[in-house]
Amino acid sequence: MPAPVAIRKNLELLRDQIRHHNYRYHVLDDPEIPDAEYDRLMRQLQALEQEHPELVSADSPTQRVGAEPIQSFKTVKHRVPMLSLENAFSTDELRDFHRRVTSRLELDIDAPVQYAAEPKLDGAAISLLYENGVLVRGATRGDGTSGEDVTHNVRTIDSIPLRLIGRKYPSVLEVRGEIFMPKAGFTAYNANARTTGEKTFVNPRNAAAGSLRQLDPKLTAMRPLDIYVYYVGEAIGVTLPPTHSEILNLLQEWGLKVCPERRLVQGVSGCVEYYEAIGAARDSLPYEIDGVVYKVDNLAMQRELGYVSRAPRWAIAHKFPAQEEMTVVQGIEFQVGRTGALTPVARLAPVFVGGVTVSNATLHNIDELHRKDVRVGDTVIVRRAGDVIPEVVSVIRQRRPDGTRRTHLPKKCPVCASAVIREKGEAVARCSGGLYCPAQRAEALKHFVSRKAMDVDGMGGRLIEQLVAIDRTKSPAEIYDLRQEELAVMDRMGDKSAANIVAAIEASKSTTLSRFLYALGIRDVGEATAANLAAHFGNLASIEGASVEELEGVADVGPVVASRIRAFFNEPHNLDVIRNLQKAGVHWEDSDPQAIPAEGPFSGKTFVLTGTLSGMTRDEAKLLIQKLGGKVSGSVSKKTDFLVFGENAGSKLTKAQSLEVSTLSESEFRALVGGE
Ligand code: IVH
Repeated sequence: MPAPVAIRKNLELLRDQIRHHNYRYHVLDDPEIPDAEYDRLMRQLQALEQEHPELVSADSPTQRVGAEPIQSFKTVKHRVPMLSLENAFSTDELRDFHRRVTSRLELDIDAPVQYAAEPKLDGAAISLLYENGVLVRGATRGDGTSGEDVTHNVRTIDSIPLRLIGRKYPSVLEVRGEIFMPKAGFTAYNANARTTGEKTFVNPRNAAAGSLRQLDPKLTAMRPLDIYVYYVGEAIGVTLPPTHSEILNLLQEWGLKVCPERRLVQGVSGCVEYYEAIGAARDSLPYEIDGVVYKVDNLAMQRELGYVSRAPRWAIAHKFPAQEEMTVVQGIEFQVGRTGALTPVARLAPVFVGGVTVSNATLHNIDELHRKDVRVGDTVIVRRAGDVIPEVVSVIRQRRPDGTRRTHLPKKCPVCASAVIREKGEAVARCSGGLYCPAQRAEALKHFVSRKAMDVDGMGGRLIEQLVAIDRTKSPAEIYDLRQEELAVMDRMGDKSAANIVAAIEASKSTTLSRFLYALGIRDVGEATAANLAAHFGNLASIEGASVEELEGVADVGPVVASRIRAFFNEPHNLDVIRNLQKAGVHWEDSDPQAIPAEGPFSGKTFVLTGTLSGMTRDEAKLLIQKLGGKVSGSVSKKTDFLVFGENAGSKLTKAQSLEVSTLSESEFRALVGGE
């Protein structure tokens, strides 16, 4: 007996609702309902479909992981070839590209050509075919002419709609994009694979490509994959708008996910600005990229420019310097850090990676060293991403020479020969020498003078190491009686630099409580915690005297950190250091924590500050916000209400714009707080 019309209607209504919520969640990143409510809708649909299996259709949201494993991949011919892009590795090459574009279009080289700029996603290219709004095929790029049919796998990716939404979509739409594994998913996936002994992926790109080439869609469904679409191969039944950027907006309206970091820019200077902004934001983007892509926005111009061999003349990929390279391990040594932690470091044959020459790379800790089984003589892959310390990613086992040996944790500190201790359950092994160990002393002093701590300009690591080596500075207070004559005779120093350092030491005496707290180097008390402690208590005596419970009342301070702070101030030696520093003239202004009201015009509002403000320091801006009842946070998220930006604002500004967080220039901010 056919199901009653009411049931059919109910079923379609539920599916539409679920599709709508999928869209809000995956494409717009702005869910309307909590996950639990979504799960209820989904269960309701599953129950109805179970009662009426004849009404189950392939585009139902329940049918993502239904398919059985396939035996082998079918080859599919692309209806329109999938092209690749030409690369530019420098601004000069980008200029050449623009010159070719303008000259072919018979435009002046300074003509205001609009480019659609997008991140170049580091994943696997995909072609998705929709017929009458229903996803009927997913295919890899292959050699560009034909690829592999991976429909069973793309159907499992939640952000790929099984059915387009809205009405005016084309009867046939072939759309292209990149399937990728977001960084967080990649890290979590590998961490899990490590505990279960499964194979880990070397990088998110391999993870995406490997996942698409699974025969069993159930395996692909367990991989955290995502997509951004960036090109229409074919559209039948609608007239597309005249520009690439409008087409991307339309694809989003049809339920497809497009990259939020896309922008329209003008000319070479616009491209370069975009390249730099995305480069600065690269580390904080949730997905891997290896450059940016510029496309002539106007489709009529694109047609005029045409193609050369396998790439369009209207687009170019502007690549970032490679972040991974190969080199040989020449030695493995253990470095001793500020807290005594022993970090194995690989000494490498110098290699140019991530834009700099690298000759050392961290192996993190002894467990990591053993897990990767890095040995002297090995050829390894080294990665340097952004400002992150270069690391050894993996060993190329095929290239291992004969006679290599595993490296063991030393029993004694390589610097001071104190016992090396590794507590149960801890990944980190530590030198037990404390401040007896010259390495720990030097690191503590380097931290003390660093920019975000006491900010002694010009006092570099080499100078401190020399001073520690001759036993001239055993504790931070001794920095304050260094004389110009003794500094001038140190390696690579002279009268002028010695005089500058003495002046910088003098200037550093006038500081803030939060810098001072941070400079002390209490374990786990970073810049933010130090600032919170200072704002909460207002003066050092209250912090020194605070109980663990009172310390836990401070934002971001949990029981572990609270007990570390308490233990630090229980130690008479540490109190001596503080008194000696104060005697040497280090001072700051106490603040009255009561002065910061709980309520005010900014109550409930979260601000983030970025870039250099010209008329006030960040601390002053922060205090202003707090006085008006607002909160200041270090990172931008959807919960941020305002981003205040100064000169040279970078990734935070880009991120705020992509999350549509309100941004305020310094003058707008001043107007808001009632300044001039
Ligand atoms: S457009 C005709 N846009 O880069 C133009 N490609 O080196 C087709 N890629 O095969 C490509 N991000 O896999 C385009 N925003 C983006 C891209 C992008 C990554 C990949 C794509 C392509 C390869 C070419």
